[in-house]
Amino acid sequence: MSMALTERRPLRSQDAAAVDRGSIESFFAGLQPDWHSNWAWDHYEATILALMHQFGLRRLCEIGGGRDPLFTVEDARRHGLDLIVNDIDAGELALTPKGLRTARFDIAGDLSEPDVARGGYDMMISRMVFEHVHDVERAWANIHALLAPGGIGLAFMPTLWAPVFALNHILPKAASRAIMHALFPARRQDGDDPVFPAFYDQCRGSRAALEPMLQRAGFRDVHVQPFWGSGYFERMPGLRGLDAAFNKLAAKADWRLVTTYAYVVVRKER
Ligand SMILES: C[S@@+](CC[C@H](N)C(=O)[O-])C[C@H]1O[C@@H](n2cnc3c(N)ncnc32)[C@H](O)[C@@H]1O
Repeated sequence: MSMALTERRPLRSQDAAAVDRGSIESFFAGLQPDWHSNWAWDHYEATILALMHQFGLRRLCEIGGGRDPLFTVEDARRHGLDLIVNDIDAGELALTPKGLRTARFDIAGDLSEPDVARGGYDMMISRMVFEHVHDVERAWANIHALLAPGGIGLAFMPTLWAPVFALNHILPKAASRAIMHALFPARRQDGDDPVFPAFYDQCRGSRAALEPMLQRAGFRDVHVQPFWGSGYFERMPGLRGLDAAFNKLAAKADWRLVTTYAYVVVRKER
């Protein structure tokens, strides 16, 4: 009988913890998310808390949290989070609810701003931010530099080539802005929910499309969770039905070219 030649050394307690906690891929396999993007919106907060719990993380930075961060001061206290809200825009951070700590820097910049803390975060999250970032590969490389070893990055983003975002991407800015303002009056520049310019750089729902870039940024443990469908056609009965049928079929076929949203999740090596 031949013997395996792998060295059998006793596991140190840290090794054991790393083995027990598993990969990001296995975390999501256990979670069993639904294909519809309603799941992504409804479970965003719970997914972050579950990841932090499972991987023993505490220091959380929300990228592009601006005027509308995910957690309140009370939430952070209740969940034992050391929370900081980032944004590129000082005007947005001036609207961050009082009591939350803020850090102004460009996630795709040169990280020379005084608020930057390299290796200072256990988890970095963002919701509807990456489509506004002009150099997303740089943003992921910066996230790698800002995370502590074993830290997790999660970007919840709209993706191409979902027809609704493809249209927004292709139409002249003035036209897509006018459509958005007609559909959602609150999203005027002077309203509560302004529209920021969108580039959709590297906003994709396919692992095959994103993995080479994420590896260049330094990540080996990678997961892309795809979602289909949106609420954009809610008020247009004909289009709503067509869009729903299209997304159901696309999800069934696992057609990653036309995902509507994705969670892109990475973990830095320990
Ligand atoms: C559409 S808002 C999303 C706000 C919030 N995350 C939410 O879900 O409602 C996009 C935010 O990202 C910020 N942002 C855009 N580019 C950024 C960058 N390169 N670095 C940091 N924040 C950025 C904007 O200033 C804005 O506050």
